[in-house]
Amino acid sequence: MSQVAHELSVERVVALSDADLEDLCEATDAAIIEGGGFGWVAPQGRMALARHFRGVLLVPERELFVARLDGHLVGSAQLVRPARNNEALAWAAQLTHAYIAPYARGYGLARMMVNRVEERAAALGHRVLNLDVRETQRTAIELFERLGYIRWGTHPAYARVEGRTVAGHHYYKTLEPVRGRPTEALFPQDP
Ligand SMILES: CC(C)(COP(=O)(O)OP(=O)(O)OC[C@H]1O[C@@H](n2cnc3c(N)ncnc32)[C@H](O)[C@@H]1OP(=O)(O)O)[C@@H](O)C(=O)NCCC(=O)NCCS
Repeated sequence: MSQVAHELSVERVVALSDADLEDLCEATDAAIIEGGGFGWVAPQGRMALARHFRGVLLVPERELFVARLDGHLVGSAQLVRPARNNEALAWAAQLTHAYIAPYARGYGLARMMVNRVEERAAALGHRVLNLDVRETQRTAIELFERLGYIRWGTHPAYARVEGRTVAGHHYYKTLEPVRGRPTEALFPQDP
């Protein structure tokens, strides 16, 4: 890694300038080409990705978080909140589509971004953050386990990538509210 001091930041965005959208599409395609982390297996090109991100900004249940390296957008993550009719699951949200472009990895941006998503989910009242990841995404597995995510199961037929069926790991992490009882106190107790 370079010894130059870089400016690192993460933020939640509700709009994207043309320049930010350009950077984000480039970062996303670079991550897809390198091996995924976005659901897409093949690079999509600027127009399809721009449509995707503009759409994300319009979906009420989705929030978009971005990471910047020296001012340029180099990765993103999405917080997906449960549908409004799903009262029983309202306490859990999902972290999805988290990636950092290969040229911006190793600076701590993914850690910062995941922490930011967790803070936001907790502030919105969620007590659990769920995520899932292909078993082949070893760096991501390392990241999430280091950040305290608990693997509760493995789906043997989770994804299909380039003609191969790939297993996927499911994780959760409890979030603590600003006020109120600790989340673990709300877990079912052994009889
Ligand atoms: C996983 C990913 C987001 C990490 O991004 P990053 O900005 O380089 O990660 P960070 O610099 O914030 O590292 C945070 C932690 O992740 C783990 N990690 C990061 N790079 C790693 C590597 N090359 N090998 C092992 N662990 C690694 C470490 O635990 C690290 O903590 P540490 O620095 O205290 O050791 C990035 O590699 C990526 O986009 N991968 C492809 C997409 C993907 O798999 N996304 C997740 C599925 S939704």
